[in-house]
Amino acid sequence: MRHPGFLLCGVALASSLASSGGQSAVTGDMQSEASINRSVDSILARLTLEQKVGQLAQYSGGWTDSMTGPGQRRPDLIDRIRAGTVGSIFNATGAQLIRQLQEIAVTQSPTKIPLLIGLDVIHGFRTTFPVPLAEASSWDPDAVYRSARVAATEAAASGIHWTFAPMVDIARDPRWGRIVEGSGEDPYLGAAMASARVRGFQTADLASPFTIMACPKHFAAYGGAEGGRDYNTVDITERTLREVYLPPFKAAVDAGAGTTMCSFNEIGGIPSTANRQLLTDILRTEWGFRGFVVSDWGSIGELQQHGIAGTLADAARLSITAGTDMDMESDAYWRHLADLVKAGTVPESVIDEAVRRVLRVKYRLGLFDNPYRWTDADIEKAMLLHPDHLAIARDMARKSIVLLKNENQLLPLRKDLPLLAVIGPLAADNDSPLGPWAAHGRADEVVTLLDGITEAVARTTRVGYARGCSIDTSGTEGFAAALGLARRADAVILALGEGRDMSGEASCRSSLDLPGSQQALLEAVVQTGKPVVLVLMNGRPLSIAWAAGHVPAIVEGWYLGTQTGNALADVIFGDYNPSGRLPVSVPRTVGQVPVYYNHKNTGRPGDTANNYTSKYLDLPLTPLYPFGFGLSYTTFAYDDLRLSAATISTTDSVHVTVRVRNAGKRAGEEVVQLYIRDDVASVTRPVMELKGFRKIPLTPGQSREVDFVITPDHLAFYDQTMQYRVEPGTFTIMVGPHSAQVQSRILTVR
Ligand code: NOJ
Repeated sequence: MRHPGFLLCGVALASSLASSGGQSAVTGDMQSEASINRSVDSILARLTLEQKVGQLAQYSGGWTDSMTGPGQRRPDLIDRIRAGTVGSIFNATGAQLIRQLQEIAVTQSPTKIPLLIGLDVIHGFRTTFPVPLAEASSWDPDAVYRSARVAATEAAASGIHWTFAPMVDIARDPRWGRIVEGSGEDPYLGAAMASARVRGFQTADLASPFTIMACPKHFAAYGGAEGGRDYNTVDITERTLREVYLPPFKAAVDAGAGTTMCSFNEIGGIPSTANRQLLTDILRTEWGFRGFVVSDWGSIGELQQHGIAGTLADAARLSITAGTDMDMESDAYWRHLADLVKAGTVPESVIDEAVRRVLRVKYRLGLFDNPYRWTDADIEKAMLLHPDHLAIARDMARKSIVLLKNENQLLPLRKDLPLLAVIGPLAADNDSPLGPWAAHGRADEVVTLLDGITEAVARTTRVGYARGCSIDTSGTEGFAAALGLARRADAVILALGEGRDMSGEASCRSSLDLPGSQQALLEAVVQTGKPVVLVLMNGRPLSIAWAAGHVPAIVEGWYLGTQTGNALADVIFGDYNPSGRLPVSVPRTVGQVPVYYNHKNTGRPGDTANNYTSKYLDLPLTPLYPFGFGLSYTTFAYDDLRLSAATISTTDSVHVTVRVRNAGKRAGEEVVQLYIRDDVASVTRPVMELKGFRKIPLTPGQSREVDFVITPDHLAFYDQTMQYRVEPGTFTIMVGPHSAQVQSRILTVR
């Protein structure tokens, strides 16, 4: 017999998937705010100071396959839970384990307060979805919502309450390994993805089945690390902070995110963990955030290395008073906060407020009603890798693929070629496609590229495989076999890129080239003269200028997760018409970094034909592939771009309409992109800024009008006194298939 809970969760998932469209904030919490506050206050009143501080302490359980930071499980963790002095643990999963830990907390501890269980559920749980940078390439917030929904369902079924996601850091430097975890370089696209993920994880009611609480991170500007080196200094203006780095956080907060994680980095001299302007003034006072802030791993203790705290006690004081409520792994709060209160250095009311925030969240999650929520091993078993989840993952993976080049329509390949060569160190690799931060994703459940191709071809087609070389060593021993196979084949699918651990936290690179001997393999395979399809698997844009000039077809596959091979085969053989677009510019070489589309014009805009302009002597001005770019197996034509009014006031909105037609022979999806430029303003403005996009399906010959509304909010910016407002003047309104191909109209604002 089917477990009754299974039916419940099937229904819950189906109904929550169906409700993906809504953009509104969380509204439907079962318990009203006032009644939660009353309950929280009554608990607070009976806690000792030590027990209160315990609620602010979080530790890594270290029960998962891999630790996510430098440290090991504390030997006294279970005793501490039993004593009621641990608020939250992470890196512990499994319905059974969580039930046992929770039992200790709620039946054996004097406080009886349930634990909050966190985990980095970044792109799927057991069913691994594409890495976030790949999902952002779909430009499809509804699909991203569904992906987060499945991740939440599986994680919740495994006892998890809280994910340290979405990672919403804007990244303009692909050397930074964590670019893979975010949505790329653009604040508008990043905000759309942030909102979709928060809603997908949390749904409208955190206490409903199969939800987990979101934690947008890393607040803030972590992606601005100098030199693209992780944990490094960030030195940006308040304008850049507010215009580039904060919008995805604001969107996540507006979508109802229950928590936020502060970042490791400093900004202009103040580490985020102790940054009151960020954590209190902006997040809480300006934005009305009601959840709690967790530190990053050890980031409270690191205030000493930053050089703004002389002791761990000092670090605790600076962090709690700035607005960091929970201490992840520094043990600074537990060791020092009570003494700081007793000494009169930190008011107890500050502790009380932080504890209130933590307890409120536990209430909102329904943990006081049912501390064992979803800790049922049967349901867990039924949910993990559920066939519905695999189908959604395959769909998400196909949508995440970006077709970068397709000379002479080499793609899609026929399924009945006599001999197809599948070559490269990533072709049969079942581990790398999981990407970094793959929670419980398992390599043996990954459909490799080779598996997917073999499964898809006609019965008469032979598929040959040769590894060619390893990912990052210089050996060429495997070349001969690979080249022999390529010469015999009718077409070659060549899978190159980076290993799974070459991006993610603490995995920055100073080069964007294909590592090891892969470039040499690529050139040798292309020299055979056979048609070559290059499939890239990577966690960051790679500088593939040679490939762009010499390989007829290039497919950007990022890391696509469990369904990698099936999704790539769908695209390679044309069962799915690629619809992904780049969420980030692809540099020609690392020396061009940072290169991003929404840059400023400068006083001497780059002009390669003229000296004394802003350019390199040895490179074109443009990136190799621009932001928003991606090909399809069909073509789209744009015409009839018009504004509903040529002149508006500063408080008006205007409609922008364009007609888009599928001018090719296959059904496909186009991502119609809207950009604006404020032509003359009191402060310099970017040459273009994304302010809208729409992904639309079109059958051959079909055309559709796409309508955007530009509101005052889209036109506004921070003026010289940091007031957010619309200034009169002209705006160039641009619409097109990507940032480097647009048509424009002029809008006058009076
Ligand atoms: C450090 C990472 O910066 C953060 O993103 C992650 O959530 C924590 N470790 C916990 O694993």
